[in-house]
Amino acid sequence: MKVSVSIQLRLNHFRYVVPGPDAVRMNQNRLKIGELEVHRLGFGAMRLTGYRPAADRSDAIRVARRAVELGVDFVDTADAYGVGANEELLAEALHPYDGVLIATKVGHTRPSPREWAPCGRPEYLRQATELSLRRLRVERIDLLQLHRVDPAVPYADQLAALAGLVAEGKVRHIGLSEVSVEQLVEARRFVDVVSVQNRYNLTDRKHEAVLDYCTAEGIAFVPWVPIAHGEHAGSQLLGMIAAELGATAAQLSLAWLLHRSPVMLPIPGTSSLEHLEENVAAAALELTPDHLARLAALSAVG
Ligand SMILES: NC(=O)c1ccc[n+]([C@@H]2O[C@H](COP(=O)([O-])OP(=O)(O)OC[C@H]3O[C@@H](n4cnc5c(N)ncnc54)[C@H](OP(=O)(O)O)[C@@H]3O)[C@@H](O)[C@H]2O)c1
Repeated sequence: MKVSVSIQLRLNHFRYVVPGPDAVRMNQNRLKIGELEVHRLGFGAMRLTGYRPAADRSDAIRVARRAVELGVDFVDTADAYGVGANEELLAEALHPYDGVLIATKVGHTRPSPREWAPCGRPEYLRQATELSLRRLRVERIDLLQLHRVDPAVPYADQLAALAGLVAEGKVRHIGLSEVSVEQLVEARRFVDVVSVQNRYNLTDRKHEAVLDYCTAEGIAFVPWVPIAHGEHAGSQLLGMIAAELGATAAQLSLAWLLHRSPVMLPIPGTSSLEHLEENVAAAALELTPDHLARLAALSAVG
């Protein structure tokens, strides 16, 4: 059952009312992921697990469940996060998911805690998807994202493997991660692409052209590191503008994303209940044209 209360949090020197889930619903537009609909502020689960499963997972489970209580219904994970442990944790916390879209990814391997290596061989993508289905305990994955395009494997083969998984009913929708406009256009010849997950935030706007393409085509754009690994939370400049709104710098950074495009679906990551509640509340933050102009001046597009 979803909780519908408002929470009072003490944030720095001021008191800010964090809206409960009803407020999140009222203040936030929804976004289509294929025929599915979600709120535009999701949750990135990567930080709930390390490379190896933790002995005590109770805090991480609490954070995942709290996200859903607060109205979050889009949760991002990957088979590579914790080498499967992240998907297992989400299954333990949230299965049978009850209206929550779990978006996972395949195609990026973790040979060691420090290494990430793409692997897009069709047989590997198929096997990885089978394992994700098992760990998430579902018959079909709502959104499967290709974590990275593998430059060592023909792109068409990777896309054909994804299209095959949809045709077989193992996957409902396909998304891509870290792609250019050209790669996105090419992919759409093989499969319906409903989302793109590229690195993007107020101060890292390399993928502006991809965002513009997604906005024009109605494809969900899921920016990763939406608050720059937490750096924006410590920004004095953001903090000054945020204080005028009675908000925090992290909230301002997320609100800017939500104002930037109607297809934007940020997935801030946190392992802290307090930060989670703060981040979810950013969906209700209204920015004026003046705020947007001042924020635009903070970030050079490039
Ligand atoms: N597609 C890809 O290749 C890719 C790559 C990386 C990540 N991702 C996805 O994107 C999600 C988000 O990325 P991310 O977690 O790396 O970066 P992020 O959301 O920009 O930042 C997370 C960091 O910020 C801190 N933080 C979060 N909320 C805060 C707040 N309100 N105030 C102060 N600090 C705060 C977190 O620490 P605390 O835990 O202490 O709150 C954490 O260190 C991941 O969870 C993952 O699902 C995708």
